[in-house]
Amino acid sequence: MQNVILSALAALSLFFPGIVLAEEAIFVGSKACGECHSDQFKSYNSYAKKASSYKSIKILADKLTPLELVECYGCHTTGYGRPGGFVSIEKTPELANSGCEVCHGPGSSHVNSGGDAKLIVRNPTLESCKVCHNEERVRSFGFKPLKYAGAH
Ligand code: HEC
Ligand code: HEC
Ligand code: HEC
Ligand code: HEC
Repeated sequence: MQNVILSALAALSLFFPGIVLAEEAIFVGSKACGECHSDQFKSYNSYAKKASSYKSIKILADKLTPLELVECYGCHTTGYGRPGGFVSIEKTPELANSGCEVCHGPGSSHVNSGGDAKLIVRNPTLESCKVCHNEERVRSFGFKPLKYAGAH
């Protein structure tokens, strides 16, 4: 019987990966991280361009079609298109910028556990930066990501 249930769950998880893994972390926004990591939060807010990345697209929004604007969200907001990620400025203002979690991964489990270090990405790899800092961007902005810049 248990096997039947397990394989049913496994089959279900193929179609609804987020549902069966109820423990899967979702995005909470940088301000929530700042409750406990005030130093990192302060320097991120003061120095990282990511802290105002939504403004960068808002400035150009008038010149963009709604479809083009949505394309910007993937890199200029936190978790767009992923469980608990950015939806719109009205619905999820706390995820409007490219926040802590674009590097450290979704943080709800880490936060709810009171800071269990196993439940957050400690050392984001350079590989993970390339999702947004891709070849095309690197060329057009003349930018090569440095591991410790742009964070805190
Ligand atoms: C309730 C307080 C709390 C909140 C909120 C919180 N953290 Fe933490 N965090 C901690 C504590 C405590 C540690 C230290 C754990 C340890 O050293 O065992 C920690 C450690 C970390 C580490 C280092 C992990 C390691 O392996 O040393 C990172 C990275 C981190 N937090 C990122 C975040 C991010 C990103 C957020 C927001 C999504 C966040 N934290 C929210 C309490 C918190
Ligand atoms: C979800 C997309 C995304 C990921 C992942 C990402 N970045 Fe960024 N990053 C951005 C955006 C967007 C900007 C530009 C913000 C603006 O100016 O509007 C930026 C800006 C920067 C800058 C410019 C300088 C500054 O002061 O902010 C640096 C450096 C940087 N990122 C480093 C990194 C590194 C290192 C990683 C990986 C550990 C990383 N980024 C991962 C989206 C991302
Ligand atoms: C694939 C990820 C990605 C997408 C999609 C994306 N951006 Fe960016 N954008 C970046 C990164 C990374 C940077 C930072 C590059 C750097 O600092 O060298 C950036 C920088 C910028 C900047 C410059 C900010 C500054 O301070 O110099 C503007 C403006 C901008 N993006 C607007 C947009 C708009 C508008 C869209 C949608 C049409 C968009 N971006 C889509 C990743 C992206
Ligand atoms: C651009 C990617 C990036 C962003 C954005 C970012 N971090 Fe980090 N963070 C890193 C990297 C890389 C390390 C590892 C640094 C090391 O090992 O020395 C790190 C380390 C940490 C640590 C471990 C202690 C330390 O300072 O080394 C904490 C806590 C932390 N980050 C919290 C945060 C919080 C809170 C935010 C948002 C306010 C944030 N980070 C935003 C890349 C990022």
